[in-house]
Amino acid sequence: MKVNIAIIPGDGIGPEVTEQAKKALNAIANVFDHTFLFKEGLMGACAIDETGTPLPDKTLNLCKESDAVLFGAIGDPKYDEDPTLKVRPEQGLLKLRKELGLFCNIRPVKAYETLIHNSPLKEERIKGTDISIYRELTGGIYFGTKELSKDGTIAKDGCTYSVEEIERIAHLAFQAAQSRQKKLTLVDKANVLETSRLWRKTVTSLAVQYPDVRLDYLFVDNAAMQLILNPKQFDVILTENLFGDILSDEASVIGGSIGLLASASIGKNNALFEPIHGSFPQAKGKDIANPLASILSAAMLLEHLGLHEEAGAIDKAVQKSLELGITTEDINFEKPFSTSKVGDFIADYVNNQEDTDINFQNIHMGQSTII
Ligand code: IPM
Ligand code: MG
Repeated sequence: MKVNIAIIPGDGIGPEVTEQAKKALNAIANVFDHTFLFKEGLMGACAIDETGTPLPDKTLNLCKESDAVLFGAIGDPKYDEDPTLKVRPEQGLLKLRKELGLFCNIRPVKAYETLIHNSPLKEERIKGTDISIYRELTGGIYFGTKELSKDGTIAKDGCTYSVEEIERIAHLAFQAAQSRQKKLTLVDKANVLETSRLWRKTVTSLAVQYPDVRLDYLFVDNAAMQLILNPKQFDVILTENLFGDILSDEASVIGGSIGLLASASIGKNNALFEPIHGSFPQAKGKDIANPLASILSAAMLLEHLGLHEEAGAIDKAVQKSLELGITTEDINFEKPFSTSKVGDFIADYVNNQEDTDINFQNIHMGQSTII
């Protein structure tokens, strides 16, 4: 299969982790005889520095024309520390999501057996957790009208949702539940917000089309608590943009590290894959950031293209790296591997699964030089 993949490394650790995902994809291309053509584009703080805008048209067009987009991370402290700046890196990502119509953001959260002890949560609470968060991505308060009064003392962010926007993601979430444990939890704030009441009404009326799926509802404040108290009760969570942003970061604690959470953002004609973590500027260029979320995002990209066996090969390699402790310092405190060594291991494992032991020894030999 020939696939055009747009790569947007972005800011901070984005380029380093994306590089590892690219290694994994090249290994897949090699083993399964595919041709992956990569073209890079600028977005975020680096794009502002170079072109004055966070999403240059060139990058947008590259993404529109590609079969899939692999994105790293966005954000830079120089913008975070100054809220008065009008041009911000995040605007690039939001514009890209909107322009590509990526309305459905899927964030899988799993408690990996090998990492359970890393989570600050009790093992018996999180063991076996397997949640898929469906976050609406192109509507709600993120994209509402923003206003700041002339004297700078009153600010406003509008939140709007239409039935159409709710239905299109709800269908995907119901279908996901059908292929999983058949449970869908709608998270909203219907006791307070009009938009949430529309979500409830709309999703409830769709439920008749999915009689095999059990639909229940949680207010977002309660959901935030339940996620930590008893995450195993969830199968598919469906929620609006802002709630999904917050709950998915919270849920990452279950997996042991935010450095493991991948995501897919799906639209009608385009799809983008990215780790849910941020640009981690403190680690930029140090070769210490966890590349697994980016590598798992590449696996989601393959899955999206229908390349299931290929996606499975990456998942298996990631599983192996966790088992063998070939991981970065966020999960392997004692003998950490560098970002690039983890990437090398994944690519090696995909290329030559039979030889894992040899790979393992080679990597360990190299380890002394990297710490
Ligand atoms: C995410 C991020 C983004 C968001 C930021 C970088 C704009 O936190 O993808 O979760 O809020 O959607
Ligand atoms: Mg977020």
